[in-house]
Amino acid sequence: MMKENVFVMHNDVEIPLIGFGTWQIPNEEAYDAVMMALKNGYTHIDTALAYHNEENVGKAIRECKQPRENIFVTSKLPAQIKGYEETLSAFEETLTNLGLDYLDLYLIHAPWPWNEIGKDCTQENIQSWKAMEKLYNEGKIRSIGVSNFSISDIQALLDNCEIVPMVNQIPFYIGRDQEELLEFCKKHNILVEAYSPLATGELLDDPELQEMAKKYDVTVAQLAIRYCLERGTLPLPKSTHEKRIIENKQLDFKISSEDVKTLSHMRDIRK
Ligand SMILES: NC(=O)c1ccc[n+]([C@@H]2O[C@H](COP(=O)([O-])OP(=O)(O)OC[C@H]3O[C@@H](n4cnc5c(N)ncnc54)[C@H](OP(=O)(O)O)[C@@H]3O)[C@@H](O)[C@H]2O)c1
Repeated sequence: MMKENVFVMHNDVEIPLIGFGTWQIPNEEAYDAVMMALKNGYTHIDTALAYHNEENVGKAIRECKQPRENIFVTSKLPAQIKGYEETLSAFEETLTNLGLDYLDLYLIHAPWPWNEIGKDCTQENIQSWKAMEKLYNEGKIRSIGVSNFSISDIQALLDNCEIVPMVNQIPFYIGRDQEELLEFCKKHNILVEAYSPLATGELLDDPELQEMAKKYDVTVAQLAIRYCLERGTLPLPKSTHEKRIIENKQLDFKISSEDVKTLSHMRDIRK
């Protein structure tokens, strides 16, 4: 459910509407970038053990002079680490890196290792999920979810585990709507987080989007991020430039339903 500044997940935990992405921000730049985001009103930070920046992401969160409970922190179990004990120890590593004593959201980064995309790891994912359920039940994580999971990957968890994932974080941007998966997640009250909402920057030079953005007096980045919200997904834009970090959160406009429809029919710029 979307409220004014938050989505409410199916376990009633609130998650701020826009998250700050930190993929490809090197550890040595992560402190400044996250501090800049926190200073400019972001209260939701997305990282992962695989980004190799948790240390400085955590340092910024700890040193920003905001109460810990005001910041929503997500990290992820690396795609190649699967299994019950393996998940418990990777989680501890993440907490140590961040220097925090709990996470707001922990995700299985992908259903398969990145160098074996498509491999069937169903049994291993079920074991990882059971470990995440344990951590959730112990109060070490406020919500748990998955990332890059297909309908059948999620269905395996629904069939074999207790807790329905609160989130599926997937690539979602204008031209890549993933309608079927979106519908499935909606049906099960799984919040879809839109990663790469700017297609990692590739949407920004598109002439059709530039034209539409002009009509709303916004930038293409703002149009693309707002589009994710219009579709009920939670965008996770990334930038290391303060001007852009601010811009990406100024989304106080609405895209007409007609234009949402036009955008939803656009081709995937990456194909
Ligand atoms: N779960 C997963 O497997 C997964 C995979 C990919 C991403 N993610 C998450 O999603 C986040 C965002 O995705 P992403 O990193 O692929 O990219 P993105 O947010 O779609 O785009 C980021 C790119 O756009 C540029 N940019 C950002 N705002 C801009 C603006 N207002 N004007 C012009 N250029 C702008 C950035 O450059 P500068 O930084 O130079 O400003 C960067 O090159 C990641 O950081 C990560 O947290 C998750």
